[in-house]
Amino acid sequence: MTKPKILITGGCGYIGSHVAKLLTKKGYQVVIIDNLSATGKKIPYGKIYPIDLSEEKEIIKVLKEEKPEAVMHFAASIVVPESVAYPLKYYRNNVENTLKLLSAMEKVGIRKFVFSSSAAVYGIPDTVPVPEEAPLNPINPYGRTKAMIEEILKDLSEAGSLDYIALRYFNVAGADPEGELGPAYNQPTHLIIRALKTAKREYPYLEIYGTDYPTSDGTCIRDYIHVMDLAKAHLLALEYLMSNGKSLVLNCGYGIGFSVKEVVKTVKKVTNIDFKVVETERRPGDPPVLIADNKKIKTILSWEPEFQSLETIIKHAWDWEQKF
Ligand code: UFG
Repeated sequence: MTKPKILITGGCGYIGSHVAKLLTKKGYQVVIIDNLSATGKKIPYGKIYPIDLSEEKEIIKVLKEEKPEAVMHFAASIVVPESVAYPLKYYRNNVENTLKLLSAMEKVGIRKFVFSSSAAVYGIPDTVPVPEEAPLNPINPYGRTKAMIEEILKDLSEAGSLDYIALRYFNVAGADPEGELGPAYNQPTHLIIRALKTAKREYPYLEIYGTDYPTSDGTCIRDYIHVMDLAKAHLLALEYLMSNGKSLVLNCGYGIGFSVKEVVKTVKKVTNIDFKVVETERRPGDPPVLIADNKKIKTILSWEPEFQSLETIIKHAWDWEQKF
């Protein structure tokens, strides 16, 4: 039996591409809308429409033509410091364009939605590991755009307009274990990618932003999740909605934290390359510790991570990096 058709916005980006591949492998028909701004490249999965989400008429046309049963919405701007410098870009791309997408869905009658949210909605949480019930207290425009859309989705769901799952990603890292897909940012800001590129001598040294945090070694602690485990969470979320599950908000992380120094040490071990590290000032807007309470996703979606080892995450990211 053919599985339903799913529309993926941002399907050529880092996380969207892994989900597009997984859904295709599982027999879903995948349609992608992507302006190709993140990577400039199409992926070998799904039917791709290279359009921007701001083009509402074009989006409605695609939805009418393809009639997908659900929408998974990845397309967004994602760099925290950039959101501080250019907030309007973030409110336009992440809030205005999502509203356009939701209105287009309403016009065409699509009522299932998987949303890429972020741990950034918590800001600096009081409780660690942080549960989904913690207050939303974002500390930068990027996090605020994600929190705003979550509020809008709650209202739409309560009004009976749609059912959604908002997945709050913690620190997504790693690459397709088959080596076909991976992160491809033009100017990466993420720790693991920058550390690997330093090992490759693309950068002269790696900066550690702040060593005076209230943590065991003074550097920030994060919950790194393998992109394929995150892709699997999306598949389960989709299956849940397709079998008429009600709206949910779920953390996506392993519930385990690693400090920046631990990550750097593991990168050196996995690559077997030593590189220069420079300790600098704190980066504005970094919470000291961010770890997911993942009981909810494990219980409700029966999500079981497969690549829950920092070494594996870094190994897969390294395999990918070495292709360029
Ligand atoms: N870091 C360094 N040096 C670098 C890059 C990062 O020391 O060259 C540090 C950061 O200061 C931070 C940690 O490594 O303490 C992780 O930083 P990343 O940039 O890899 O990831 P973030 O935790 O900042 O970002 C993630 C998600 C965002 C989300 C944010 C919420 O990628 O989408 O968590 O805090 F908004």
